[in-house]
Amino acid sequence: MSASPAQTAEDFRPAFHYSASNTWLNDPNGLIFHGGLYHLYYQNNPLDSVWGNMSWGHATSTDLLSWTEHPVAITFDEHEDIFSGSIVFDRNNTSGFGTATSAPLVAIYTSAYKAASEHQGTQAQSLAYSLDGGYSWTKYAMNPVLTRNSPDFRDPKVFWHEGEAGGYWVMVAVEALDYQVVLYKSMDLIGWELLSSFGPANATGGIWECPDLFPLPLDGDPENIKWVLTVNLNPGGPNEGSAGQYFVGGFDGTRFVSETTVTEGMEDAARINDYQWLDWGRDYYAAVSFSDAPQNRRLMIGWMNNWDYANQIPTAPWRSPMSLAREISLASIEGQPRLIQNVATGSSGAPAPLSTFSQPAGPVREGTVVLPGAAGRVQHLEFTVEAGSAQEVGLVVRGSGNEGTRIGINPARGTIYVDRRNSGATGFHESFPSIDSAPLRAVDGSYTLEIYVDHCSVEVFAADGQVTLTQLIFPSPDSQEVSLFATGGTATLGALRISTYA
Ligand code: FRU
Repeated sequence: MSASPAQTAEDFRPAFHYSASNTWLNDPNGLIFHGGLYHLYYQNNPLDSVWGNMSWGHATSTDLLSWTEHPVAITFDEHEDIFSGSIVFDRNNTSGFGTATSAPLVAIYTSAYKAASEHQGTQAQSLAYSLDGGYSWTKYAMNPVLTRNSPDFRDPKVFWHEGEAGGYWVMVAVEALDYQVVLYKSMDLIGWELLSSFGPANATGGIWECPDLFPLPLDGDPENIKWVLTVNLNPGGPNEGSAGQYFVGGFDGTRFVSETTVTEGMEDAARINDYQWLDWGRDYYAAVSFSDAPQNRRLMIGWMNNWDYANQIPTAPWRSPMSLAREISLASIEGQPRLIQNVATGSSGAPAPLSTFSQPAGPVREGTVVLPGAAGRVQHLEFTVEAGSAQEVGLVVRGSGNEGTRIGINPARGTIYVDRRNSGATGFHESFPSIDSAPLRAVDGSYTLEIYVDHCSVEVFAADGQVTLTQLIFPSPDSQEVSLFATGGTATLGALRISTYA
């Protein structure tokens, strides 16, 4: 179905997700909480609304919901594009980039060298530093600081690690085509030595990009710390195209050892549902965590798009939103360590909704029923249901008589799905109209979903954050209805509460 004639890119401008004002973005980079602000840098084309001229854009937020755009932070030049990477606060001035009064922020980014460079054809790791809290950046004169003479060595994520024999910087990066995460160590961010590598493991249906490595307490127990290695791959996700997987295990300061590897080596397509996915939808990629988040929270943001159709989504001159920020924790589920993800806000929390709606508990009979008084474009829905005799039960959001995004549970298959085939504008790419699903089982007989709807997205968090599914949609601004549906029998609604923000 095509967009209605009145539709413009501004109709899709998210309310609670970052988008650049009028340019292209992809991966989040250099996420750090610093100076009382969440800083989001990102892969940006400052000159266009498609990928190219890669630079680091910059935005800040206090609540992780509304963002202020700043001038481009680190800009491409004739020698290099500035690919993905991270930022650390070098509080002890190990790098020497600081002054007597000011410790530096240091960006570790990938130099993707171009024809004019003596390093042409390679990707290597470089530094830039800021002495004004992250607004202006100076490239280090001796870049790059780490090369393997490889064309696909990129996406460094750096953190400070306190080992038994003292502290040091650890970098995780990828050899993308080898499905390998490589780990390095440094005392000063300038000299690096190889520690180890990890992979191939589990999903290898696409090149590996944008890794992260961080500790989390299992079940909230500070005595039981596990390490989580995340790595994105493109394509090869569980519902086609780009996606992120994770491993849980141990890190001894040198080597990451996974406890959750299903198969070593190349991908076994039949096992794809056994791998651990950061998100099962099509539009959550290159997710990476903040450095120095308050209260030791582990917060992540992903790029809400998919390389399959990223350059074609109908939002030019801006193109691509970021996901909502997520707080990540680790829980034992059926004896296995699994990530739990929930939407995170800054300390000020979410704004007050314009209106709220609540549907009384009771039967959901076969058919689709529009809920009077529930309509909206930007919503938070909390939905608990028992499937009963229904074959499928769920909600339609951003609906009208003609279109809508269907979010359904199929108990016999043990899945949740998002069907966006009739969600609005879908014709810009052949792979966009899709039904995407994830494994989901009832917990104590019922299913609980939290759904965040914005002007161009649906993010579903199921089973208290055990399963997430993120999808772009491009509905008409007139499509605002919420419906309940069941097929093949009767389900029982436990609760449906909706907060509407626009
Ligand atoms: C992931 C990625 C990274 C690279 C960047 C370039 O989406 O391909 O591997 O650093 O995008 O924009």
